[in-house]
Amino acid sequence: MRTLLLSRWTKVLLFVLCLMPAVYIAYLYPTYKDPVGDITHRTGDWTIRFLLITLTVTPLRGLLNQPQLVRFRRMLGLFAFFYGCLHLSTWIVLDKFFDFHEMWQDVLKRRFITMGMLALSLMLPLAITSTAGWVRRLGFKRWQRLHRLIYFSATAAVIHYYWLVKSDIREPLMYGAILLVLMLYRAVAWARRPSLRPSPKAASV
Ligand code: HEM
Repeated sequence: MRTLLLSRWTKVLLFVLCLMPAVYIAYLYPTYKDPVGDITHRTGDWTIRFLLITLTVTPLRGLLNQPQLVRFRRMLGLFAFFYGCLHLSTWIVLDKFFDFHEMWQDVLKRRFITMGMLALSLMLPLAITSTAGWVRRLGFKRWQRLHRLIYFSATAAVIHYYWLVKSDIREPLMYGAILLVLMLYRAVAWARRPSLRPSPKAASV
């Protein structure tokens, strides 16, 4: 398992797999009845999925005792950003035809658009600082703190989805529940950190 996770080819394979949804969305194009709506929905779905998949790496690493899994986290996070950019571009180019006045009105008036913008904007600093050079420049602790923005981005993404659906709220609730479990795992792991437990000396005082 360890050899497989450390192999360069596993990374290449994962990269190709992560590109597949985009290829499939393009492949299905001739079958779309409402191309703008269909592409918006499919790219939105993949953005939220990749966000949650990225957040699954840390718990999975602990549960399977496979620290090497962390090698894939950056790529998965960048794919979340990539699908988010496709999602936004569909809105800007195919839906709004670069009408910046209308777009601004939408951002101000439609709360789910405001929330979507927030979710994607929070991903931007993460994408920019995802390189080893930025980890060095910021220092690991500060870099790690900055990258906690992903929790806020994923929360905003779930709210964006919840606010945009008209009647059937099952899917946004499902994503919300997954996010909650992933956050609870972190909260429990954080509370159990040995450094936070009182030392036997302190406990006896
Ligand atoms: C992290 C960022 C974002 C995520 C995770 C996300 C996710 C989603 C999801 C899951 C859907 C619904 C897909 C479905 O119905 O199956 C959706 C729809 C949509 N999103 Fe986003 N989104 C994000 C950012 C944005 C941004 C920045 C915009 C535009 C400013 C935007 C505009 C829309 C629109 C117009 C829809 C379709 C609404 C409708 O059906 O009436 N989203 N998004």
